[in-house]
Amino acid sequence: MTLSIIPQPRKVTETDDLFTLKSPARIVIRGDAALPAAELLAEYLRPATGFELPIVESSAQTGDLELKVTGANTADDCGFYDESHQLCVNADKMELSGASTAALVRGLQTLRQLLPVEVYASTPQEVSWTIPGCVIEDSPTVRWRGVMIDVSRHFFPVAQVCRMIELAAQLKLSVVHLHLTDDQGWRLEIKKYPKLTEVGSVRKRTIIGHYWDKPWKYDETPYGGFFTQEDIKTIVAFAAKRCIMVVPEIDMPGHMVAAIASYPELGNYPQHQLEVRDCWGISYNILSPKPETIAFMKDVLAEVVELFPAKFIDIGGDEALKYEWEICKEVQEVMHAQGVKKESELQHYFTNEMGNFLASKGRRTIGWDDILNPEMPADAAVMNWHGADIIKEAARLNRKVVLTPHEFTYFDYFQADPKHEPLGIGGDLPLEKVYRFEPLDSSYTDAEKATILGAQAQLWAEYIPTAEHQEYMAFPRLCALAEKTWLCGTTPGYADFHKRLEKYYGVFAQQKVNARPLE
Ligand code: ACM
Repeated sequence: MTLSIIPQPRKVTETDDLFTLKSPARIVIRGDAALPAAELLAEYLRPATGFELPIVESSAQTGDLELKVTGANTADDCGFYDESHQLCVNADKMELSGASTAALVRGLQTLRQLLPVEVYASTPQEVSWTIPGCVIEDSPTVRWRGVMIDVSRHFFPVAQVCRMIELAAQLKLSVVHLHLTDDQGWRLEIKKYPKLTEVGSVRKRTIIGHYWDKPWKYDETPYGGFFTQEDIKTIVAFAAKRCIMVVPEIDMPGHMVAAIASYPELGNYPQHQLEVRDCWGISYNILSPKPETIAFMKDVLAEVVELFPAKFIDIGGDEALKYEWEICKEVQEVMHAQGVKKESELQHYFTNEMGNFLASKGRRTIGWDDILNPEMPADAAVMNWHGADIIKEAARLNRKVVLTPHEFTYFDYFQADPKHEPLGIGGDLPLEKVYRFEPLDSSYTDAEKATILGAQAQLWAEYIPTAEHQEYMAFPRLCALAEKTWLCGTTPGYADFHKRLEKYYGVFAQQKVNARPLE
C-alpha cells in the first residue's frame, strides 16, 4: 500500500503495522505548546468518529494519540514557527512530535489524510478508523505558503473566509492574505472613520459581463458587505488555531476609490465627489500624498495593527497611476517640500511613511513589488508580480520577496478552454501549469533564493461572484501550489501528484468543496 498525502511529505517509511483508533482513546499531550494542537485534533476527529477523545497530560497508553512539542515554540523574525515534525504510527499508538505548535498542526493534517476519508465528515460515521503504520519526517522548504482572497470586488462572509482558511490549513498553507480594500468596496470597519464602511462598502451597481465587452452594461443593484471588527477577531482566532497568519491588505495609494468616495478630502480633487467604482479595471483616482491623508492612513493602519497580530501588514501599492499627481498643484507642492523630483519617487515617500509607521508598531511592511525602493524599512518585503528582475533587485537591496507571478499564481485565470468555463478575467493557468511552478527555480542565484520567503496564489474576485465559484477557482489548483511550496524542487512529479489528487477528491466530496472536476 502506498500512502496518499498532499502535499507529499519529505520522507515516508511505511511498515506492516496497523493502528486502529477506538473509544476510549485519549489525546495525550506533553508540554503546554501541544495543547492547542490537541484541541484542534479533537475538534477534527470527534464529529466523524463520535469518540470522546479526552485531552490529558499523562503517559500514553495503548490506543492513545500522543502529541509533544520538542522545540522552543518561538516565532522567527517573520512571525513563522519551525514546522518540522515527525509522525510515528505503530500497532499500539500514534505519536506526533514537532518543534512547535505549528509543527504539530501541520502533522495533524497528515494524520487526517492517513485515516479513512470519512474522517472529514461532520456527522458520526460507521467506519473502522485504521491508520497504516509509518514513520513520516516532514518539513516545508519555504515558510510563506499562502493564498490571497480578494473580498473587495466580491464580498465573502466570515463563514466562507473561515472555510477557505480551513481548506488552506488542510494543505499545510501558512498564510491567508485578505485583500480588504479596493476601488469597488472597502470591507473593514474602522472605528475612527465610520464612513469608510457606511459609504465605501456599497457600490450602487456592478458591471455585467467582461470589462472588455463594450458598451458596458450594469445590473443596477446595490452591492455591499464588510467585516466588523468583531468579525475580524473571529477570522483571526479561527486562523490562529490552525497556525495560519492572516495578512491584511489596505491597498494604497491607488485602488482607493471607495475610501475617496467616503472621504473626498483624501483625494486630489476634494470638490469632486467620487462614487464607489462599479466596473473593473484601474482607476486614475488615487490618494493625495498630503500630510492629512498620510495621517488618516496611519490612523487606519493603527486599527489594523490592533486587529491583526500578523508580523506582516500589507499596504498594497500596485497600479498607482500618477496622472492626478502630475497635474495637481497641491501634490506638486508636496513633492517640492519633500525634495522629490518624480511622481514615482513620491509613491516611495508615501510607502515609506507607512512602512516607518508600521515599523514603529513592531510590524513588517509588505506590498506589491511596485513599492520596492532602497529607503523602505530594512525588514520590508514585496510580492513579486512583475517578473524575475524584481527578485534580483530585491536581493540586491536585501529585501524579502513572496512570489506571486501571474502566470503561475493568478487563480482568477482560466483553468481550461474559456469556451467551456465560467466567465473569467482571461489568462491560461491549468492545473498542470501550476505544478510546473518552481518557487526556488534553478536559474536563481543563492542570494536570490535566500531572499525568497515563499509564494502564494491570488484569488482576484472581479469575476468570482460566489463562494462556490471561489472554490471552483481555488481547487484543485491550490493543492498543486501547496505541494510545490512545501517541497519546491523535490516534488515527485505531476503523474504521481495527479494520482494522489484523485484520492483527495474524496476529501472534497466529504466537505462538499466545489472543486473543478479532474480531467
Ligand atoms: C496586481 O495584480 N495588481 C497586483
